[in-house]
Amino acid sequence: MLAAVTVLAGLAGSSLASPFFSPWSSEELFNRAVTSSGCSTSGTASCTNTSSVSDLCCFQAPGGLLLQTQFWDTSPSTGPSNSWTIHGLWPDHCDGTFDSTCDASRAYTGLSTYWKDIDGDDESFWEHEWSKHGTCMSTLDVKCLPSGSPKGAEAVAFFNTVVKLFKTLPTYQWLADAGITPSSSTTHTLASLTAALKKGYGFTPALDCDGSNVNQISYYYHLKGSVIDGTFVPIDAPEAGSCPSTGIKYLTKTGTPVSTTSTTKTTSTTKTTVGLFVNCGTTGLMSLQTSTTKTTTTTSAPTTIPTKATIQAIQNGNQVGGLLSLGTWSTQTLATYTLSGSTSSLKLSTSKGTCGVSGGVFSCGDGDSSTFSAVSSGGLLLLAYQDDTSFSSDNVPSGSTVYAVNTGGDDDEVYTLSIIST
Ligand SMILES: *[C@@H]1O[C@H](CO)[C@@H](O)[C@H](O)[C@H]1NC(C)=O
Repeated sequence: MLAAVTVLAGLAGSSLASPFFSPWSSEELFNRAVTSSGCSTSGTASCTNTSSVSDLCCFQAPGGLLLQTQFWDTSPSTGPSNSWTIHGLWPDHCDGTFDSTCDASRAYTGLSTYWKDIDGDDESFWEHEWSKHGTCMSTLDVKCLPSGSPKGAEAVAFFNTVVKLFKTLPTYQWLADAGITPSSSTTHTLASLTAALKKGYGFTPALDCDGSNVNQISYYYHLKGSVIDGTFVPIDAPEAGSCPSTGIKYLTKTGTPVSTTSTTKTTSTTKTTVGLFVNCGTTGLMSLQTSTTKTTTTTSAPTTIPTKATIQAIQNGNQVGGLLSLGTWSTQTLATYTLSGSTSSLKLSTSKGTCGVSGGVFSCGDGDSSTFSAVSSGGLLLLAYQDDTSFSSDNVPSGSTVYAVNTGGDDDEVYTLSIIST
């Protein structure tokens, strides 16, 4: 699982958070956070009521259709290369129309008062997301807060909720689990992307494209109770996004990957350090860091590769055989590969000889020797050639058939190759 998702588990529970670039005191935020609304979560979900509901502190209306939106920005790239980033949480009316900027008196343009020392661009992003969307949430109205709540407490609750939802929506991993990883050349159908995401989410999200490039996703919910601590009920997107039905590209992001490996040790003196990346268009990148005492989770990009491994083919989230000693794809007993170098510069060989790519075809033992790389994705270590983790063949092997392995995703059957230490 992605670190950006996994490690954030601590945030919701602890309510201790600080900006990554310039920390504010965790006590300060803790004091401002409202963690309990006092609302029941067993009542009618927003947008599903059949008669008028009067207590809008515990029933989100009129903005009862909630969208958790995420970006995949590649030009320029923002955030890690292997995680989508938060755009926001938007309260649409049940019919898809929406209000924005609902309470100018709570625009909180001096959000640095509440989140100290936030970098300028990031601060304006937070202000924008809060004042445009957060102020339209009935359950975050000032009158709904416990008496004596400090100014801005509902904005803190809003961001805590956005982060909590985001950590349950690992878009990158859900796609990777289906063998769909970023590539400059592979194209996808809307149906294949949607099927992969539905498998993870349980419902159909909406995908937006810039031309043919996917760049945003919206996960839809109804809400039982308050945005502060209510139950988000996932639903199918009421309408499709802007992506075409075929020819969709999921382009590679440059940037530092979020680590997918972590080691945890428990002590009484150190802190958990985690990262979350948030952005809005090209206007900014925000990172959060949570700290708690007692547990240290150190995440680091895997820098070691196994010296002996088998290479499994993963197609649509399932293993289908792997590579034989000549570098072909088969469901017969897999060959042992010898690996040397690093994740960024990797050499492979088998009992037949060195492995390389010639004319777009991967093979071992015919004199070629190419440099590969290894990419952590969805908990797997994937083989990549020229930064592309897609490989493809004419057909899917079974029994004793073998197929040539082409680099890139241009052939009929596309898959990734997972390096498994032996
Ligand atoms: C649901 O409740 C809201 C808030 O009271 C109200 O505006 C809306 O008309 C209700 N919907 C129905 C179908 O009664």
